[in-house]
Amino acid sequence: MGEIKIAIDGPAGAGKSSVAQGVAERLGYLYIDTGAMYRALTLVCIERKIPPGDGGMLGAVLHDFDIRLTPEKTFIGGRDISEEIRAPEVSALVSEVCAHPSVRREMVRRQREMASHGGIVMEGRDIGTVVLPGAELKIYLTAGSRIRAIRRGRQLKAAGIEFDLDELEREIILRDHKDSTREDSPLQKAEDAILHDDSEETLEESINSLEKLAREHGA
Ligand code: DC
Repeated sequence: MGEIKIAIDGPAGAGKSSVAQGVAERLGYLYIDTGAMYRALTLVCIERKIPPGDGGMLGAVLHDFDIRLTPEKTFIGGRDISEEIRAPEVSALVSEVCAHPSVRREMVRRQREMASHGGIVMEGRDIGTVVLPGAELKIYLTAGSRIRAIRRGRQLKAAGIEFDLDELEREIILRDHKDSTREDSPLQKAEDAILHDDSEETLEESINSLEKLAREHGA
């Protein structure tokens, strides 16, 4: 069994986190949710009242900023922020925070470092295109916007957060638009990525499909 790098990209709510986590568990690989890193910085930005448009300040804050990820949790400076980073206020601002080149440069540097030994499933928006262009397996995971809203809604409900499904779908479409039209490393399918639409699949079925692909690619 090899220790390959697996890059999973796709729009908000396609189920990337659950699928990537499941595949990593099956393979005994490390799972990294890069969106959680951008969300962590966004939370700090809100708490410290830093204007989300101030890329210089955000880049500076990020430099002495300790983000630690485990497969299930996200910490900044030892504080568990796993739940706070899923709040709607964070989701609403994260696309602006993550668009700054100063922020992306430092995040990408850290992500490459985490992946340097292989044996990793890394999930985000620019993993196959920018962070790990040499990954042995690249997947672009997507689903229809309504089904993605329903899935996000389920997560919010489980966390006790109120939502309106139409509003959630509009927010998801807006975030996809911002993420795929930004100048620096926009969300796009890498040329050599495998497109996988999981609209009709259960989580278990998606994990099975991706595990099979991973094994075929040397995992
Ligand atoms: O996957 P998510 O919804 O937790 O991601 C939060 C935001 O972070 C998303 O709007 C886009 C951004 N992101 C990014 O720009 N690059 C990544 N590699 C991961 C996430």
